Amino acid sequence: MYMDQPIGVIDSGVGGLTVASELMRQLPKEKLIYLGDTLRCPYGPRPKEEVIKYTLEMVNFLREKKMKLLVIACNTATAFTLDILRETLDIPVIGVIEPGARAAIKMTNNMNVGVIGTEGTIESKAYPAALTSIHADLSVYDLACPKFVPLVEKGMFTGDEVYRVIEESLQPLKTIAEIDTLILGCTHYPLLADTIQAVVGKDVMIISSGEETAREVSAILGYQALLFEGERHPEHEFYTTGSSDVFEQITQQWLDITVNDVKKIT
Ligand code: SIN
Repeated sequence: MYMDQPIGVIDSGVGGLTVASELMRQLPKEKLIYLGDTLRCPYGPRPKEEVIKYTLEMVNFLREKKMKLLVIACNTATAFTLDILRETLDIPVIGVIEPGARAAIKMTNNMNVGVIGTEGTIESKAYPAALTSIHADLSVYDLACPKFVPLVEKGMFTGDEVYRVIEESLQPLKTIAEIDTLILGCTHYPLLADTIQAVVGKDVMIISSGEETAREVSAILGYQALLFEGERHPEHEFYTTGSSDVFEQITQQWLDITVNDVKKIT
């Protein structure tokens, strides 16, 4: 493996761009190859077997690109495929769940941590497992928020309607526990972070796994002497299974990154 090889990033669609943009910010010399399965997004409500099949298809596509590390930038795909991919690939594989869990443990004072995510991620219990394997005394309160991804997909991040949906969805968390830390366990949710923060109150610390994942990628590449050391402005490659125009628009609108020439693949 060589330091000039790219980092592969897979996601169920465009949500993983929140992770990709953090990677670009923290590791500006690294080249990314991003594949979003927009056509079959969301993965959250799909059965486990289907999520595994679709994720492996994405990985097969990226394998030809000779990546030096793979990021699974989708919580649902991480929950169901991280172990499989770590066993089958001979490169480091980073999911978004462990970094988010580690960050929450660093932040919490009262040991009451909330996790919100898709139905698939919450049912998998991957977050409680990751959190309590690091710290057994932690109390974890998890909640599926199936209405959040459709809001983001419609480009609705703030406003009265968004506030109402988020307030209603988070009500069970507010009534069962005094959490001081909340993990956004879905890559779409950072785009709703301002409204989520307004609903839960400023005393609750919000953890977005994108930032933590990028930090972990940097640490692992550094440890394995695989960080690119020369000078370059990498040309990232973006692939989608859906419409490339919509992908380009969303990237610009959401993240203020200009991404041209998104390639559509089947
Ligand atoms: C989804 O595909 O349902 C959302 C992405 C995620 O789980 O992070």
